[in-house]
Amino acid sequence: VPQKQPYRTWYHFQPPQCWMNDPNAPMYYKGVYHFFYQHNPHAATFGEKMVWAHSVSYDLINWIHLDHAIEPSEQFDFNGCWSGSATIIPGKEKPVILYTGIDDKKHQVQNIAMPKNPSDPFLREWVKHPQNPVMTPPSGVEVDNFRDPSTAWQGKDGKWRVVIGAQNGDEGKVVLYQSEDFANWTVELKPFFASDNTGVCECPDFFPVSINSTNGVDTSVQNQSVRHVLKISYLRLHQDYYFLGKYANEDGNFTPDVKFTGTSLDLRLDYGKFYASKSFFDHAKSRRILWGWVEECDTSHDDIEKGWAGLQCIPRQVWLDESGNRLMQWPIEEIETLRDKHISIVGEKLVGGSILEISGITASQADVEVLFELPELENAEWLEESEVDPRVLCSEEYASRSGIIGPFGLLALASEDQTEHTAIFFRIYKTSNRYVCFMCSDQSRSSLRQDLDKTTDGTIFDIDPNQKTISLRSLIDRSIIESFGEKGRICITSRVYPSLAIDKDAHLYVFNNGRQSVVISELNAWSMKHAEFGQEESIHKQ
Ligand code: FRU
Repeated sequence: VPQKQPYRTWYHFQPPQCWMNDPNAPMYYKGVYHFFYQHNPHAATFGEKMVWAHSVSYDLINWIHLDHAIEPSEQFDFNGCWSGSATIIPGKEKPVILYTGIDDKKHQVQNIAMPKNPSDPFLREWVKHPQNPVMTPPSGVEVDNFRDPSTAWQGKDGKWRVVIGAQNGDEGKVVLYQSEDFANWTVELKPFFASDNTGVCECPDFFPVSINSTNGVDTSVQNQSVRHVLKISYLRLHQDYYFLGKYANEDGNFTPDVKFTGTSLDLRLDYGKFYASKSFFDHAKSRRILWGWVEECDTSHDDIEKGWAGLQCIPRQVWLDESGNRLMQWPIEEIETLRDKHISIVGEKLVGGSILEISGITASQADVEVLFELPELENAEWLEESEVDPRVLCSEEYASRSGIIGPFGLLALASEDQTEHTAIFFRIYKTSNRYVCFMCSDQSRSSLRQDLDKTTDGTIFDIDPNQKTISLRSLIDRSIIESFGEKGRICITSRVYPSLAIDKDAHLYVFNNGRQSVVISELNAWSMKHAEFGQEESIHKQ
């Protein structure tokens, strides 16, 4: 790895070198968190023969890198070990991994791997099941588009169920399999889920969420106190969508509340760079935790120079919000152990056109939480119904343009003169029948460098006409900014590659480009320490 690495992160998970994509089989087992990921150990580009790399942690923040867990070796995974998930078998308390193998004919098949020694909390060695492959492409599924088994769940009848992503022509599918013994699987003819004109559904994740609690539940829970979520990664869009719905009607079907529309009405887990996400139930803390791959926005030539590509988000707790219509996400509480020097601002007015520096912390690695007090919403500017479309608003350079209520928010990874900055902001509008807020992460001025994808990401959501405050949290870490609006109702993750705003030359500001004043009701910002990433020998057990 080259010496000068302004974009390597301090506390976001990344491998020591080379390429990483999807999170695989996250789980908690015998006091240890396990994280596997899609990895090309030979280059900073996607590989011909992908492997499962493996790291373990006691807190989901500091990581020990272990040897690869699963590598191509047999006919049924000769050309790659692709994504999959873990299931902990109750009673036996033994984890089982289901993963996709690219076989010797380049067909996609599903395989099982089991720990060689289940009493090793690090689960260092994995053995492949003698019955592999346990699933081969069924009819109506393309042989090279049948992949990414989910965590399995157990129905009330005791049978195991698992879903696999697939494609048939233009139709995206999620196929359901059932098994009595976890080794012999039969396909359900009717797809579990299908969407027209989407292409392949990758990495389906299917899980229950509590209706009245932020606590998570085990994937097999089915009762009146939960709803179900199906998450799909659409390859064509490279975006993660989710559907809330009903599961476990008598027929065992999943009935999503709404269909995929291909418009901004569809719900996304994150409106920025975030793909192939996967959740697991952490029974140590009764919560559901979500991981997601955050890809690079520079060129693959840059990646080769850097010697690495790909990050993971800070694991997020997920739960159903009170309305029951959306998921909420928040960085796991353990991240707060990395908070170091603290700066706080209370009750500071930001008049139109003003900017305020948050100095005294390491702006290149920081955690910032800010609560803004809003002016009277009545004064908000008018937005035609036909323009209530985040794509329209994102296509204009909004952060620097002045509005009425907003844009206001943070300028992160900014150079001293602000020629470089990433603006994360809100702007409020009035429409014919409601108030809406546009939340945006604007990378257009994030770097003087060319050849970067600086596409602006944003979304629009309704806000209550009586709303008095709005909150924003951003986790800033050298080349990534993860932002959480409205306490986790909206997430936007960005990758940026400043050329000036690096290390000590990075600054952090709060700004208001709206004509109406907003008040910083409270702002807390912390320098963030380095998380520990190392080989087993170099890490001290807590
Ligand atoms: C998603 C994905 C999966 C596949 C894996 C291969 O990013 O394409 O569908 O299993 O990556 O690395």
